[in-house]
Amino acid sequence: MIMQDLKKLINKDKLPKHVAVIMDGNGRWAKSRGEERTFGHKNAITAVRNVINACNEIHIPYLTLYTFSSENWNRPKDEVDTLMNLLSETLLLEAEEIFTKGLRMHVVGDITKLPELVRDQLLNVIELTKNNDKGNLILALNYGSQKEILKAIKEISQEVKDGKIDVDDINEKVFEDHLYTKDFPPVDLMIRTSGEVRISNFLLWQIAYAELQFLDVLWPDFTKDTFFQCIIDYQNKERRYGMTSEQLS
Ligand code: IPE
Ligand code: IPE
Ligand code: MG
Repeated sequence: MIMQDLKKLINKDKLPKHVAVIMDGNGRWAKSRGEERTFGHKNAITAVRNVINACNEIHIPYLTLYTFSSENWNRPKDEVDTLMNLLSETLLLEAEEIFTKGLRMHVVGDITKLPELVRDQLLNVIELTKNNDKGNLILALNYGSQKEILKAIKEISQEVKDGKIDVDDINEKVFEDHLYTKDFPPVDLMIRTSGEVRISNFLLWQIAYAELQFLDVLWPDFTKDTFFQCIIDYQNKERRYGMTSEQLS
């Protein structure tokens, strides 16, 4: 069988600016091997590295990774603890690599609720990489889209109440300026692994016109080629934004 170099098939002029990934299926990956769920999380780090490197190699400027949702606190305490410890370890081990690659790290979500050590490490990496400009790595941590939208509504309501803004002046741009993602472009491509076809409270506003891809692969099995194939499939879609095909050509 001839191995295709998938990367070579990618059109450099038609890349998504912003890719968001719901990294799902660690627990099932572990269970299918007769292991505990946490074994899956430990084996997910390679896949995280794969997606970051793949993005970096083809120069996609924004990558958002759904790392821990606001609903994930409802999992058993030992699993939450394992996830937080893994995050902390990984930040420590990978900070230099992220910096060397020229990536700038950001966080979306309410990080005030994270363990203090994790929060401090996050803030350190964000500070360390703040002048980097080779790409943006955005971690969604304790993130929930509905809470984010409510936060925006409350802030805007307060501005109206204080007479800083008129109700009639509220538009998409004003709203987006109150989201965690205010500095990032809208999502062009959202990928979810593990076969689940749902959004799980991730970037509801930001995916308004994103291409959605649901893959059967479980997250720990996600490779750079999996990602390159997603980009090729994305490039084969016609993004019409409400128009007709004829209007676009
Ligand atoms: C994704 O894998 C990791 C997180 C949500 C933190 P899961 O742990 O959800 O794995 P499944 O979906 O149970 O297989
Ligand atoms: C979404 O996965 C959250 C992350 C990948 C961090 P979940 O596994 O938590 O989603 P549901 O609960 O199955 O929808
Ligand atoms: Mg899951």
